[in-house]
Amino acid sequence: MHIDDVLLNDWHPIAEVSDLEKQNPLPARLLGMDLVIWKSGESIMVWQDLCIHRGTKLSMGWLDDGCLVCPYHGWNYADDGRCVKIPAHPDQTPPEKAKANVFKHQIKYGLIWVTQGNPEHDIPVFEEWETEGFRNIPSGPYHFDAAAPRMVENFLDVAHFPFVHEGSLGDRDFPEIGDYEALITEEGVVADGIEFWQPNPDGTGVGSMVTYTYKVFRPFIAYFVKSRGPSFAAMYAVCPIDEKTSKGWVLMSMNYGFETPEKEIIAFQDIVTGEDIPVVESQRPELLPLDLQEELHLRSDRTAIAYRKYLKQMGVTFGTS
Ligand code: FES
Ligand SMILES: [Fe+2]
Repeated sequence: MHIDDVLLNDWHPIAEVSDLEKQNPLPARLLGMDLVIWKSGESIMVWQDLCIHRGTKLSMGWLDDGCLVCPYHGWNYADDGRCVKIPAHPDQTPPEKAKANVFKHQIKYGLIWVTQGNPEHDIPVFEEWETEGFRNIPSGPYHFDAAAPRMVENFLDVAHFPFVHEGSLGDRDFPEIGDYEALITEEGVVADGIEFWQPNPDGTGVGSMVTYTYKVFRPFIAYFVKSRGPSFAAMYAVCPIDEKTSKGWVLMSMNYGFETPEKEIIAFQDIVTGEDIPVVESQRPELLPLDLQEELHLRSDRTAIAYRKYLKQMGVTFGTS
C-alpha cells in the first residue's frame, strides 16, 4: 500500500475531543497506521501507537504521573514523546532513541485533526459553523467498509436522493436534475446552482425546489449548502482509516429549526447515512477509478467528474485506482 504525499501532508479528522473523556489513552487509525491519542491535563498528544522497545501498542497502557506507560515492560513516555523511565533499569538514563513517533494535531469543529506530514495549508473553514445565528450539530462517526473517495463521491451525488432517500431527500416522481456547472478552482471543486425537488426540504412537510452548492475543499473534506431562504450546510469530514475502511462525520450547521431537538436532527442524519452505507459498500471496484473512461458519466455526474479530475490532478492514489 502506497500512501501519497498529498494525504500524508494533509489534516485528517481521527476522533472527537469528547472521546477522550470516555477513554484515555484512546486508539485510532489513519492511513493504515495505528495511532494513540492521550490527554494529560489540558494537553492532547497524538503518536504512533507503538512502543519503540518491542512494538507493543501504547494505547493498551495507562497514565501515570503525566506519562503514558507501555503495558509490556512499563516504559514511561513523557508528553513530548521521550521515554523518561525504564523500570528494569531505574538508574539508567533512557537512550536518546527511546522516543515515540509524535504527530501534529489541531482541534477544530469538536474533532481532533492529525497530520503525519507537514501540511502547507490549514484545516478547511466551515463558514456557517463559524457564523453567528447558525446552530451547529455534529453527527457520526459513520463507519463504512469503503474507500474514502467513494464516500465523498456519494456525499456529492444528488441523483441518488429519490432512490436511496425516497421520502426524505428525494421523490421518485421528481428525479430530474437541472443543468449546472462543476469547476475545479483555487478552493477545490465547486458545483453551483444544482436545482432539485425535495419532498420536505426544511422539516415543514411542504415540498419545493431547493438549490445546492457543493464544494470539495480537500480530497476527503466536502461541503454543501442548501438554501431556500433558510440555509442548511454540512461538512463531511472523512477519515481514511485503511484503503477500504473509513469513517465520516457529518457536521451540520443551520439557521432555522431552533426548536427541533438536536437528538431528532442527528437521528434523521443517522437514517440518511444508514441508507447510504450498504449502497456505497456494494460498489465495485472498491477503489475509486480516476480514469474517466471507466464507469459511465452523465451530465448529472458533473460534480463527481470534477472530483475525480481533482483527485487525479492532486495526485491522490490512496483509495483510488
Ligand atoms: S514493549 Fe513497551 S516497554 Fe517493552
Ligand atoms: Fe445519500
